[in-house]
Amino acid sequence: MSKAITPIKGMPDIVPEQMPYWHLAERRIKRVLEAYGYDELRTPMLEKTALFKRSIGDETDIVSKEMFTFESRGGDSLSLRPEATASCVRAGITRGLLHNQRRRIYYYGPMFRYEQPQEGRYRQFYQIGAEAYGLAGPDVDAEMLLMLARIWRELELPGLVLKINCLGVSLGRERYVETLRDYFRGHLAALDEDSVRRLDTNPLRILDSKVESLQGLINQAPPMQDFLSDDEQAYFAAILARCDDANIAYDVDPRLVRGLDYYTGMVFEWQTDQLGAQNAVCGGGRYDQLVKQLGGRDTPAVGWAMGMERLIALLGLGDATIPPAEARVYFVTVGEAAARAGTLLLEKVRDALPSVRMVAHGGTGSFKSQLRAADKSGAEYALILGDAEVEQRQVAVKPLRRAGGEQELVAWNDLEQHMIALLGEINTQ
Ligand code: HAM
Repeated sequence: MSKAITPIKGMPDIVPEQMPYWHLAERRIKRVLEAYGYDELRTPMLEKTALFKRSIGDETDIVSKEMFTFESRGGDSLSLRPEATASCVRAGITRGLLHNQRRRIYYYGPMFRYEQPQEGRYRQFYQIGAEAYGLAGPDVDAEMLLMLARIWRELELPGLVLKINCLGVSLGRERYVETLRDYFRGHLAALDEDSVRRLDTNPLRILDSKVESLQGLINQAPPMQDFLSDDEQAYFAAILARCDDANIAYDVDPRLVRGLDYYTGMVFEWQTDQLGAQNAVCGGGRYDQLVKQLGGRDTPAVGWAMGMERLIALLGLGDATIPPAEARVYFVTVGEAAARAGTLLLEKVRDALPSVRMVAHGGTGSFKSQLRAADKSGAEYALILGDAEVEQRQVAVKPLRRAGGEQELVAWNDLEQHMIALLGEINTQ
């Protein structure tokens, strides 16, 4: 036997036993998004590398260290998308989705980051995200937070904490960055290598360093809030007031700066203490300059994305139990003639009851072993076809334990109606 090919590090398979949680979460989240007026957009997983450099930022960890980048046969630099906000903006501009429009968009799919894999942190992971274009804050910012709070309620996810902060734009931001740079320069000897590099590239990112020895210094750093303009302060206060009105608890965290450069106003994360180091389940914020920066017209924008693997891990921790899907009909055939006639017969029953799960045993096996499999499958009925039944153009319908009743012989011509009578009315799932 040759050696099996192993999977790529950090790229998990999601096995069928996990899927009920995924389907439940996907269904409920999409239902909420669509109810708030968001429409799905699907963009490719590959984009030109320049898109991510110009949006997320050249100096961010995501772009400088974590992208899967390669040269195409045509000589272009392409990257697997590490997130989808940049692609949404690109599609919005190039497909004319944003011009003079208010647009609410959501997306779902795999993202790729070359991070050190560990529990809750992968190199391929799924995000569901939402973006609203053409709507200035603070109402739509609050709508996002209220919508997310509703999603947590729908999923019965307890214990998520909302951390929120406001990043300034233009002058205030520049003055703050300079002030931070001076502050940390004054403590150069205490800084680790990463932070020294960020002094030049993006001192804001030192604020969310996890290095233990830096925490005191970071706590003493001048707060961003002092550098916000009056308008920015009022905008942030209005979002918080709407959260208060809706009874959404939050924790204003001046150190929350996020790892992407495009944010210009409110930023937030929903965090959990139940998943170890990977505590962010969802993150986002306002990014009013990105559409213009990527070649579109000035368009205000706000959005977020949640990590599905982390969400599913949380769902698995709760009481949610999801019964695996069971077939309702199990089809048993013995002998070549029965197998051949049975194929078409089962198709006819499927035509009549298209959403009922029916499983054919398939292949070989004695009558006895096939019936044992039928019993084990949890199905309500076994349909049995052997040489004798074929000769008489009949099929045996055997109720399995849960359904009760006697086995009956049903003519092929009557089988569809018979099965509709047995299964059609009740519980079509
Ligand atoms: P982000 O904070 O980089 O934001 O990612 C959002 C969420 O994706 C995180 O909170 C986390 O749950 C999940 N996530 C990120 N990296 C990984 C990973 N390596 N493994 C598993 N899960 C991960 C964004 O991506 C922005 N595009 C959000 C946004 C949309 N901002 C505005 N609009």
